[in-house]
Amino acid sequence: MKIITGIAEMKEFSHNLKKAEKKISFVPTMGKLHGGHVKLIESAKRYGETVVSIFVNPLQFGHGEDFDKYPRDIENDEKILSDLSVPVLFYPESDIVKNTGTFIVNPEYSKKLEGLFRPSHFQGVLTIVMKLFCIVEPDFAFFGLKDYQQFALIKKMAEDFFLNVKIIPVETVREESGIAMSSRNTYLDGSGKDAASAFYKILSHTAYLFKKGEKSAERLTGFAIKELIKNGFKVDYVEITDYALNKKYSDAEKGDILLAAIRYKGVRLIDNIFLS
Ligand code: PAF
Repeated sequence: MKIITGIAEMKEFSHNLKKAEKKISFVPTMGKLHGGHVKLIESAKRYGETVVSIFVNPLQFGHGEDFDKYPRDIENDEKILSDLSVPVLFYPESDIVKNTGTFIVNPEYSKKLEGLFRPSHFQGVLTIVMKLFCIVEPDFAFFGLKDYQQFALIKKMAEDFFLNVKIIPVETVREESGIAMSSRNTYLDGSGKDAASAFYKILSHTAYLFKKGEKSAERLTGFAIKELIKNGFKVDYVEITDYALNKKYSDAEKGDILLAAIRYKGVRLIDNIFLS
């Protein structure tokens, strides 16, 4: 596997792929790779030459958030990527965010859901993803549905700026217990894992109630909130909205998404389920 750390080198590599009429599939990550990333990479490989980036982006962590303790394990990540026969790892120098003067913001969407609790988070995500797109120039880019709001905002950014990249969603990968795979799961001890599994079960049960005929978004979210509190969670939000994140508090419909964020013993978890 080729490891590229320089911006100019990465740009040249991408240009050469384009000259050779190859399509570039891109999987941006913050490392500490897990089964969710493996699925993103396997999807990407079906579309073109795969470039994976690893960069823990300081711009998307707020004050008091976990930037310093965010899990990092580059040796193991390299092994996972080699085993998956990924041709290129872009592992940029922290230079790529230093002295940034221009930021990408979506003021409307940043006020919703995660944005209410992490006010500068999406500005940081959109800005780094735009920078990475400018360097890697991918034809396709892959994002996990576990971070649904992130996927929706990146898709909107690509549309708003007429970017030549197709944003492709990839299903959430879950452990047997139902916990959505995430690099931050390393923060969960035994009881944290049980709690995370209960979180998923409550969301699944709420989705089941929808399937059985309960259509009121207010009653469905009310049920989920009550159950989450009963299980000892602090609830940041539980909402049902449409795929574009516009709808709120009307009747839920097939294809809508139930999204939630909770805190348990200081660990924050987010998850979502599509209603079917
Ligand atoms: O989902 C992530 O890992 C990050 O938010 C991303 C998209 C790599 C941007 O830093």
